[in-house]
Amino acid sequence: MYRTKTCGQLRISDVGQQVILAGWVQRTRKMGGMTFVDLRDRYGITQLVFNEESDKALCDEANKLGREFVIQVEGAVNERYNKNPKMPTGDIEIIVSRLTVLNASLTPPFTIEENSDGGDELRMKYRYLDLRRSNVRANLELRHKFCLAVRHFLDSKGFLEIETPVLVGSTPEGARDFIVPSRMNPGQFYALPQSPQTLKQLLMVAGMDRYFQIVKCFRDEDLRADRQPEFTQIDCEMSFVEQDDIICTFEEMTKYLFKEVRGYDLGDEPFLRMPWIEAMTRFGSDKPDMRFGMEFVELMDVLKGTGEFAVFNDAAYIGGICAKGCAVYTRKQIDELTNFVKSPQIGAKGLVYARVAEDGSVKSSVDKFYTPEVLSNLAKKMQAEAGDLILIISGDDAMRARKQLCELRLLMGERLGLRDKNKFALLWVVDFPMFEWSDEEQRLMAMHHPFTAPKPCDVPKLDSDPASVLADAYDMVCNGVEVGGGSIRIHDAVLQAKIFEVLGFTPEKAQEQFGFLMNAFKYGAPPHGGLAYGLDRFVSLFAGLDSIRDCIAFPKNNSGRDVMLDAPSAVDQAQLDELQLALAPKA
Ligand code: AMO
Repeated sequence: MYRTKTCGQLRISDVGQQVILAGWVQRTRKMGGMTFVDLRDRYGITQLVFNEESDKALCDEANKLGREFVIQVEGAVNERYNKNPKMPTGDIEIIVSRLTVLNASLTPPFTIEENSDGGDELRMKYRYLDLRRSNVRANLELRHKFCLAVRHFLDSKGFLEIETPVLVGSTPEGARDFIVPSRMNPGQFYALPQSPQTLKQLLMVAGMDRYFQIVKCFRDEDLRADRQPEFTQIDCEMSFVEQDDIICTFEEMTKYLFKEVRGYDLGDEPFLRMPWIEAMTRFGSDKPDMRFGMEFVELMDVLKGTGEFAVFNDAAYIGGICAKGCAVYTRKQIDELTNFVKSPQIGAKGLVYARVAEDGSVKSSVDKFYTPEVLSNLAKKMQAEAGDLILIISGDDAMRARKQLCELRLLMGERLGLRDKNKFALLWVVDFPMFEWSDEEQRLMAMHHPFTAPKPCDVPKLDSDPASVLADAYDMVCNGVEVGGGSIRIHDAVLQAKIFEVLGFTPEKAQEQFGFLMNAFKYGAPPHGGLAYGLDRFVSLFAGLDSIRDCIAFPKNNSGRDVMLDAPSAVDQAQLDELQLALAPKA
């Protein structure tokens, strides 16, 4: 037997036992005639003791151990003189009588402790060492528990876990596909699925009734803290349901997961349901962070045309937020906020501010353009009190200006400590528009995907005013993160063809791309709908992580690279020849 106990197992009640442990050397300390070794495995750390006086040769061996050596020891469990209440095994130590080095180790390139000295890139290159750190490992343990709980819940509701293929056909709409050349079909390509959307719909046509899958999805899009090129969805679909049935089922699952996996009670109240337009108006986002207020106040009536400030007089939108108690912000702090909103990723033209003084008077960066009366109206409209700071953004594109103000609101929420990672605010955003205009493509695009059902009452508007059509689509939002999204699907081939037409597909193109689905719908498709959660996002919210990378065993970096495997990489000419692929000369 390599071991009789793990390094996280022994307690004071085990004193006197003879045990065998195996693990990695976390660190060694020599103190006088004693050598102490912290032995680590997945389960914890146990202190080993070597005593020069009782066995010099053994102690000499211990003194030669380097960090991350893999060893096996045999010894007796002893009560510690200096107990460590911070460690579960802190009451005991092992008086070692036998030591075997199972494997030596090079000195690791960073310290394998909770707070490592390794930078991001280095830790990713040696991810197998990074994963030895207890906090990183804890994220994977949490992910495992999360998946188990999902399977348990969905199984109890009659869902079947069904796998769908990873080599599928490329489809337009959505993000860019990753494509895979086919050797057996030269000149042709598979695509990796951006989600199993159409396949799960076919499973409904197949009568599976309730499907789920914890599944890898692939999207070739620009990466952010909450986006990876390959990520995992909890993908679900149900037959003979309406939006309410789906919302209720998955609200129940979410409450169950919070309680079982996170120990957090979301209460009995149903989640808030907020129409998309309301979310955009009040928070400038389709995924509002509801842990705090600081709602937008529209200021067009107060500031447009009431003074000489041309920027506001020309604006299509003027909106403000009120930061409580922030009138004390220094010039430098305000400049920081201004630089933030003017940064290329936010893109606002500028920031106007107004402080409400103790005597109730208002001092603003646009004082010279407005009378004190207008500024006092501003404070009133904002419901700002003495000591508050009003921050205002305007623009000629109302949606864009709202999104910019949203970023500022989130930053202020962060600064004011209102975005507590141990608090959770969930809601459904509902009533999304069916389509959004794409400047790039110069056409309407599906806001969710082209299989989303329009609200039945809006179907007549598909011809006359498609931009105003709302969808039976919903997103689940937690703390400003879109954790899941879905919709009721179109199950009628004629309506599906109409939607493709609005999206600018010719009937031939629609048939070529989605014929398999439209044909299937001709064979008795049940009404159906579903949703998919972003597993990585959900787990990282539970773990309080800033990036989903930290709950993925082997993630990609921001350029989509796996620095450990050094992928993507060039392939041999022979491989290219076999696939009949030629690379364009480098530009
Ligand atoms: P959607 O595209 O909204 O819907 O994706 C569902 C959820 O997946 C997560 N997600 C991501 N997580 C990490 N990295 C990414 N690049 C990434 N992209 C999306 C989000 C999102 O809410 N087929 C539909 C679902 C349906 O209608 O049933 C779909 O894929 O948390």
